[in-house]
Amino acid sequence: MNMEDKFAEDIRKGLSASQKSIPYQYFYNERGSWLFQQIMQLPEYYLPGCERSILESNEAALLDFFQAGNQEFNLIDLGAGDASKTKTLLAAYEQRDVPFTYTPVDLSTSILSALSESLNAAYPNLNFEALNKDYWEAMEYLQHKTIKGQRKVVLFLGANIGNFTQEESRAFLQQLKSYLAPGDLIMIGFDLRKRPEIIYKAYLDSKGITAAFNLNLLHRINQELGGNFKPNYFRFYPYYNPLTGALMSNLVSLKKQSVRIEALDMDFQFEQWEAIHTEISKKHTLAEIETLAKDAGYKVKEHFLDAKNYFVDSLFEL
Ligand SMILES: C[S@@+](CC[C@H](N)C(=O)[O-])C[C@H]1O[C@@H](n2cnc3c(N)ncnc32)[C@H](O)[C@@H]1O
Repeated sequence: MNMEDKFAEDIRKGLSASQKSIPYQYFYNERGSWLFQQIMQLPEYYLPGCERSILESNEAALLDFFQAGNQEFNLIDLGAGDASKTKTLLAAYEQRDVPFTYTPVDLSTSILSALSESLNAAYPNLNFEALNKDYWEAMEYLQHKTIKGQRKVVLFLGANIGNFTQEESRAFLQQLKSYLAPGDLIMIGFDLRKRPEIIYKAYLDSKGITAAFNLNLLHRINQELGGNFKPNYFRFYPYYNPLTGALMSNLVSLKKQSVRIEALDMDFQFEQWEAIHTEISKKHTLAEIETLAKDAGYKVKEHFLDAKNYFVDSLFEL
C-alpha cells in the first residue's frame, strides 16, 4: 500500500471506531514538522533541553560504549527529525576523527531534506545516508547493506518511545532485535515522571503551539483527503494521569457536527464533547524501563540522566 492509501485507510479506521483516534505518525507533514520545531523551542517543553544536556555531558562516555574498543559503528537515528540533539554527538565525533556512519531515518520528507542540507553544510566530512522511510523499511534496507564488522548503534531519542503503550514498546524492541546482532546497542530517550504540573504545562503551552500541532491533523486531512473539518470547531485538550504516567492528547468536538472526507466517500458524525484521541506521551519510571529491557531481551548498560532527573537516555545492549 502506498503512503497516501495508508493515510486514508488509517483515518477511515480511526474515525470509524467507537473511540475515535488519529495515529500520531500523521502529525509530521511539512507544517507539522515545522510546528514541532517551534514546540522544541518552548521553555515549558523541557524535554529537548534535558536530553541535549545529557548528550553534551556524556559524549565521551557514550563514544566508549559505541566503539567498544575500536569498532566502527553505524549510528542509526530512528525518527531523527531535525537531529538537533544528535548533532552534539556528530560535532564531537567528527572533531576526533571517529570512524562511523550516520543514518538518520524519518518519514517526513521535508524535515529530512532540511537535515541533509544542514549536515552537508556543517559537517562536510561526515559519512551519512538519510533514509526517507519508516522504521522497519529502513532497518530492512540496512540489513542488506551492513558492512562487515560495523556494529549498529540505534538512537531512538526525543521520547519517541513515549508514543507507544508499554506493550507496543516491548513489541517494538522485540521486532528491532531481528535486525540487530549480539553486542549491538540501542539508546532510548525516555521522559521520566515528575511533578504533574510540570508535565501538564509542557503540553498546554502558553502560546498554543501544541494545540496548533494537534489541530494540524485536521488541516492535513482536509488538504490531502478532501475533508471538510472546521478545525475551530475542535479544541485541544491534554490531560495527565499520574497513576499511569500517560499524558493523553485529544481534540474535543465543541458541537454536534458532521464531517465529510471525499477520498473515503464517507461522512463522520461527532457528538458535542466527543473526543478524538491523537497521542500518548508516556512518562516512565526507571523500574519500568528496566522491566521493559529485560522483557524484550536486552541488557541495560547505563542510564544517563540530566541534572534534574527529568529525562533519561538509557543504553541497552543485545
Ligand atoms: C517527536 S519527533 C523527535 C525527533 C528527534 N528524534 C528529536 O529527538 O528531536 C518524532 C520524529 O519521528 C518521525 N517518525 C514518527 N513515526 C515514524 C515512523 N514510523 N518511521 C519513521 N519516522 C517516524 C516523525 O516524522 C518526527 O520527525
